Amino acid sequence: MGSGDPIDLAPGAGRRPGGATATRPAVLTARDVHMRFGGAKALNGVALEIRSGEVHALLGANGAGKTTVLRTLSGLLTPRGGRVLLDGDDLAAVRVEDRVRRGLVQVPEGRSVVTELTVEENLQLGAWHVARGRVPGALDAVYARFPILAERRGLPAGSLSGGEQQMLAIGRALVTGPRIVLLDEPSMGLAPKVVDEVFAVVREIRAAGTAVLLVEQNARRALEAADHGYVLARGEVVTSGPADRLLADPEVVAAYLGLDDRDV
Ligand SMILES: Nc1ncnc2c1ncn2[C@@H]1O[C@H](COP(=O)(O)OP(=O)(O)OP(=O)(O)O)[C@@H](O)[C@H]1O
Ligand SMILES: [Mg+2]
Repeated sequence: MGSGDPIDLAPGAGRRPGGATATRPAVLTARDVHMRFGGAKALNGVALEIRSGEVHALLGANGAGKTTVLRTLSGLLTPRGGRVLLDGDDLAAVRVEDRVRRGLVQVPEGRSVVTELTVEENLQLGAWHVARGRVPGALDAVYARFPILAERRGLPAGSLSGGEQQMLAIGRALVTGPRIVLLDEPSMGLAPKVVDEVFAVVREIRAAGTAVLLVEQNARRALEAADHGYVLARGEVVTSGPADRLLADPEVVAAYLGLDDRDV
């Protein structure tokens, strides 16, 4: 499945790299990434390695720098130092839209669908770089995964519920069959049943062989859905490792996972 092809979310579809985790290739790599806002250090030497067919969770308190990491990877921000590589290619000179063409897409915090446009028009925006003749097929793949979007295709996106708008935002990112999806707090503000749906979609994206970098408030659920986790504090990765190891790490539990009890 190359960049620009519609994603096939059918069960068992797509690349399913066999073998152990360690043999999977890194899709996206960040090395020693630094970022500043004015005089304030926002990221200080962040390193990540995200592999195809895996979910990597990025956790951390408010203001830790999670959104800044995603925006630096997608090209919305220019890092002050370090390198970002997609399939081994340095992205320093690659603009946001060319990163999207190459299969690196971000679903921003707060959904950000265009409320005045219809559901279908929002999906078409996501397919701006797909050859015209292939757009209907790309949209159909999204409609097959999200039947509610098919039902509502002619309605303004602003008339959808919060959960439906989140599905639309994710569908718009998936329409091009990306190689890696950056998700910024996709479950924020949603009802528990809709949160379950969001995590189901994350699992399906992974099963289709796509890489996911998932920023989540709900650290426990994120780690349960993830292969690997990173904990960010004050712009630095302070802990990282296999998700099951982080779930059992007393320091991670005390600092981040106990908080989830308030949410459930
Ligand atoms: N455009 C900006 N200009 C100035 N400072 C910024 C900007 N964006 C982020 N910051 C600062 O950088 C730091 C990291 O912010 P960021 O939004 O990346 O955190 P976050 O981990 O995503 O937080 P949250 O959980 O609240 O979403 C914060 O101190 C924030 O105030
Ligand atoms: Mg954020």
